[in-house]
Amino acid sequence: TTYETIIVETEGRVGVITLNRPKALNALNTQLMNEVVSAAKAFDADPEIGAIVLTGSEKAFAAGADIKEMSSKSYSEVVSEAFFGAWDDLSRVRTPIIAAVTGYALGGGCELAMLADTIIAGENARFGQPEINLGVIPGIGGSQRLTRAVGKAKAMDLVLTGRQMKADEAERAGLVSRVVPTEEALTVAKEAATTIASKSLISVYLAKEAVNRAFDTTLTEGVRAERGLFYSLFATDDQTEGMAAFIEKRDPEFKHR
Ligand code: HXC
Repeated sequence: TTYETIIVETEGRVGVITLNRPKALNALNTQLMNEVVSAAKAFDADPEIGAIVLTGSEKAFAAGADIKEMSSKSYSEVVSEAFFGAWDDLSRVRTPIIAAVTGYALGGGCELAMLADTIIAGENARFGQPEINLGVIPGIGGSQRLTRAVGKAKAMDLVLTGRQMKADEAERAGLVSRVVPTEEALTVAKEAATTIASKSLISVYLAKEAVNRAFDTTLTEGVRAERGLFYSLFATDDQTEGMAAFIEKRDPEFKHR
């Protein structure tokens, strides 16, 4: 497949997707959305890929939905084409996605980072939901995922004022897992992805599913779901191998099944 708005590479068991519309600060137009979703689904279908890194440029992870593409759309157009609905497909990718965010992650850019499973930020990262400045509101899950990530007070502050939040504030608020020097963000994200990709893929899938359950169910139901997933792993070759390797004081050789 040839892509025009992203660069797709593999490094060992890690798939890397780089947003590549530098002249528009990686603004998310329909083509870019379709390409990112297509590339992520292809990695997800590839058993040789154990983790995905999603990144942009040093200046911008993504400066939002493409305002130029969006500005002339009518109500009936956005409804009938389910405008930006394809982004929802990313949340159905089972392979872990790590966003390496440097520079601007605004509007749809912040929402895209939050569609990833975890965010590693460079010190120069700026997060925000500035849609209010354009007379609209977040439309790719920002009002929901930001609120779950940072709580009501800060989510309201960001969504209502449209202000930008620096990386250290984002880390204190729990939006990002780590802040590292800007030039190291991609490397650190790739290292984390390589670590994840060295585990049993099946336990990685179920671990991700278990953590995600925390966001859409009660504690009792979530713990019950976790227990069922945990029990199910005792039916896998990789549980046998992982525990045998510990006892035999050697590294496990996972078969991913
Ligand atoms: C289209 C964009 C863009 C965007 C930047 N550009 N952001 N084009 N959509 N979201 C373009 C500019 O028009 C410009 O192109 C080029 O990228 C460089 O941007 P500058 O503004 O010149 O750079 P700078 O002065 O460094 O300012 C950076 C910036 C600013 C602070 C990030 O670009 C900015 O405020 N961008 C918009 C941020 C925003 O509002 N995002 C939310 C979008 S709404 P030209 O051709 O003029 O040189 C959204 C809704 C999500 O995301 C929900 C949808 C369903």
